[in-house]
Amino acid sequence: MGASDKQVMGFQAEVKQLLQLMIHSLYSNKEIFLRELVSNASDAADKLRFEAINNAALFEGDSDLAIQVEFDKAAKTISITDNGIGLSQAEAVEHLGTIAKSGTKEFFSRLSGDQQKDAAMIGQFGVGFYSGFIVADKITVESRRAGLPAEQGVRWESSGEGEFSVETINKPERGTRITLHLREGEDDFLSAWQLRSIIRKYSDHISLPIKMHKEEWDEEKKETVVKDELETVNQASALWARSKSDITEEQYKEFYKHVSHDFQEPLTWTHNRVEGRSEYTQLLYIPAHAPFDLWDREKRGGIKLYVKRVFIMDDAEQLMPVYLRFVKGVIDSNDLPLNVSREILQESRDVKVIREGSTKRILGMLEELANADEQEKKDKYANFWKEFGQVLKEGMGEDSANKERIAKLLRFASTHNETDTQNISLGDYVARMKEGQDKIYYVTADSWMAAKNSPHLEIFRKKGVEVLLLTERVDEWMLSFLTEFDGKPLLSVAKGDLNLGQLEDDNEKKQKEETESEFKELVDKMKASLAEKAKDVRVTFRLTDSPACLVADEHELSGNLLRMLKAAGQAAPDMKPTLEINPHHPLIQRLKYEDAKFNDWSSLLFDQALLAEGGQLSDPAGFVKKLNDMLLGMTGK
Ligand SMILES: Nc1ncnc2c1ncn2[C@@H]1O[C@H](COP(=O)(O)OP(=O)(O)OP(=O)(O)O)[C@@H](O)[C@H]1O
Ligand SMILES: [Mg+2]
Repeated sequence: MGASDKQVMGFQAEVKQLLQLMIHSLYSNKEIFLRELVSNASDAADKLRFEAINNAALFEGDSDLAIQVEFDKAAKTISITDNGIGLSQAEAVEHLGTIAKSGTKEFFSRLSGDQQKDAAMIGQFGVGFYSGFIVADKITVESRRAGLPAEQGVRWESSGEGEFSVETINKPERGTRITLHLREGEDDFLSAWQLRSIIRKYSDHISLPIKMHKEEWDEEKKETVVKDELETVNQASALWARSKSDITEEQYKEFYKHVSHDFQEPLTWTHNRVEGRSEYTQLLYIPAHAPFDLWDREKRGGIKLYVKRVFIMDDAEQLMPVYLRFVKGVIDSNDLPLNVSREILQESRDVKVIREGSTKRILGMLEELANADEQEKKDKYANFWKEFGQVLKEGMGEDSANKERIAKLLRFASTHNETDTQNISLGDYVARMKEGQDKIYYVTADSWMAAKNSPHLEIFRKKGVEVLLLTERVDEWMLSFLTEFDGKPLLSVAKGDLNLGQLEDDNEKKQKEETESEFKELVDKMKASLAEKAKDVRVTFRLTDSPACLVADEHELSGNLLRMLKAAGQAAPDMKPTLEINPHHPLIQRLKYEDAKFNDWSSLLFDQALLAEGGQLSDPAGFVKKLNDMLLGMTGK
């Protein structure tokens, strides 16, 4: 042991890249290094408190956890000291030599290669410990893990150039001391006033005391002198435990950045103390932007669980339903035991009460934005929907208790506004329903363009009946839970025998019957010809421009859903659609008198109807050949 065991090791390639970026680019927001190091010290204290729940000896008789920030003008150093969990030698090598955090991985995925742009992103992401190298050309970390003997301390040191060294040291005090040896030109940070204001700006909400030496004006020496005595610089009480009126908007935002690892501002938040059967405090935020791993349903949520101010765990997924996995924040329970485990959480009745209460809060917060008259709130809801709307739709299936509330929050594109913006609620739709209309009509397709141009919509356009355009993967699944709204059933325009009910007058009905009998012979002939492809053939009145379209039965899976299932490699039932033909279309009228090429004509009609709804032909080459024969026939060759 001792100086002789010093080893030099290389950083992981990503760390090198990150360091390069930090050291060699102009960087405007240098002060964030202190936020990052204080945040790590605070995490280390949380970890110690948590481990000590089952092993109080780890406190080594000192459970007053605190962070100390000092500077030395002569040596040009700043140090951040904590008495948290500390690092063992192996942990120092692992945690300070590689990058495991998902946030930093995303940072890398966004790098553009333009140094200036990339450097500006560090401020947004705050890439942790390594940000110390923005201001330091050497960092020394001295640490000892709680519970290890004094002689098993570690000194980690690096100038951020690709290598670091580790050696064993004697360290009687548990925890970590990080010393930054400032670069040339960074002397501004060697000021008590400067450091205090940075701490207040970014770290005021940290629940541990952050201490600095007192400074006093000495009349005799005519200068400020640094005292041995320490004073606490931040408020040092858990932000969520303070009263709402004592917290500024800035502090709420800064706390969001701390808990979410998102360095952009939140969209909105809710802060409440809940009393009654179960007592807890919740401070929950909705981010303004979706994280890159939003679609990973396996990913744990963003809620930190505390019990009576003691940090228990990150990502306590039992505290929020999966469809609200984008919510970030803190829940502090007064009822749960301190030694609660993930397994216990799963079965706890208290947790269930908290989850239900928090879900209601989030839905309430969304309703407030969605129903607001102020443009600012409306814009916020539009922003929310754009980022998280698809996830919220999962709630229709997951949370049957709140299904009706969620249904009111849904937003869709529709034929009413002719843009792909999803801003129409089911309530808006119902308010615009035509006289005699008793259903909510929708079409599903794999793109907005395909939905909007779907032949199935033709009659609805003609009659001025609005149709919702549903184009997201989750929609088909969601629709199985959204069968009605406000007492009005939802109906796919591509399913079932179209019955416009009161929207048709008697005259129209009579005409339809006549046309049906007039085309009966043709329909029977086509049925026989297309027996392999179509379950049935019938005359339709839903088309105005197209000659034919495909429909599924009311209780069958739609063509769109069948294609999605197949694309996802799932077993999809082999269902034949019904072909509907437009009796007013010249092609169909001509077909009545076709003989020789009747089978080719029928097959072409079927295939183009399939193409029009975004389907794939089983025999594309055969389709092309038939089409070409037909075109040549028309030119008379
Ligand atoms: N003061 C400290 N005491 C104990 N361990 C520390 C300390 N500072 C850093 N570490 C260890 O180094 C790791 C890397 O720190 P870094 O700040 O880069 O990432 P992080 O804190 O895990 O994530 P983020 O900063 O994005 O929240 C930490 O996860 C922790 O294990
Ligand atoms: Mg950190």
